[in-house]
Amino acid sequence: MSGTLIVYFSRGGHTARVSRRIMETMTEAGSPCQMMDIVEAQQEGIDWDQFDTVVIGCPVLYGDFDKRIKAFISDNQAQLEARNNGFFCLSVVARNPAKATVEGNRYMQKFMAEQPWRPQHMKVFAGKVDYPAWGFFDSLSIKLIMMMTKGPTAADTVIDYTDWDQVEAFALQLHEARSDDQ
Ligand SMILES: Cc1cc2nc3c(=O)[nH]c(=O)nc-3n(C[C@H](O)[C@H](O)[C@H](O)COP(=O)(O)O)c2cc1C
Repeated sequence: MSGTLIVYFSRGGHTARVSRRIMETMTEAGSPCQMMDIVEAQQEGIDWDQFDTVVIGCPVLYGDFDKRIKAFISDNQAQLEARNNGFFCLSVVARNPAKATVEGNRYMQKFMAEQPWRPQHMKVFAGKVDYPAWGFFDSLSIKLIMMMTKGPTAADTVIDYTDWDQVEAFALQLHEARSDDQ
């Protein structure tokens, strides 16, 4: 077991970008890291012997995490718990710092209440708003969330709310946890 695997779901590409930054930061720090889309992980399977650390990443879409990610966690809980493990999520409500903590983020709290895995490393990141890339109904739904939380509703809004320093800090936390184990 010698590396880290990030298994992620990304609908619009932003969680993939975050996963890639974690992978690059860890690799640069001396922890080899790979990333795998959830569909590839499900279809092709995982050679668990290769990995001492596994991290799962997922955006919040309509108040929930993707069902394939949830099934993957449930099917592989023992494999996750046999390694260093972590979970991160993205959401637009997390642009408010009070909702960017595990305790303050209701999606993370719901996830913890509905399943038994307790990740050793957990992180909530603010995601990206991209109305031009989203369909009419998706944009409308997010605009409603934004209206309730005093966020942007203009149709041409594209804002990356992610704090990339925090992404790198999370990657280094994972790297250090691996180093402590060796
Ligand atoms: C269809 C859709 C539904 C979303 N639902 C929520 C939501 O319920 N709560 C929230 O805070 N953010 C919500 N978001 C924001 C996403 O979590 C955010 O845009 C994230 O960066 C998307 O990551 P991705 O590009 O990897 O799919 C939603 C975004 C989309 C496109």
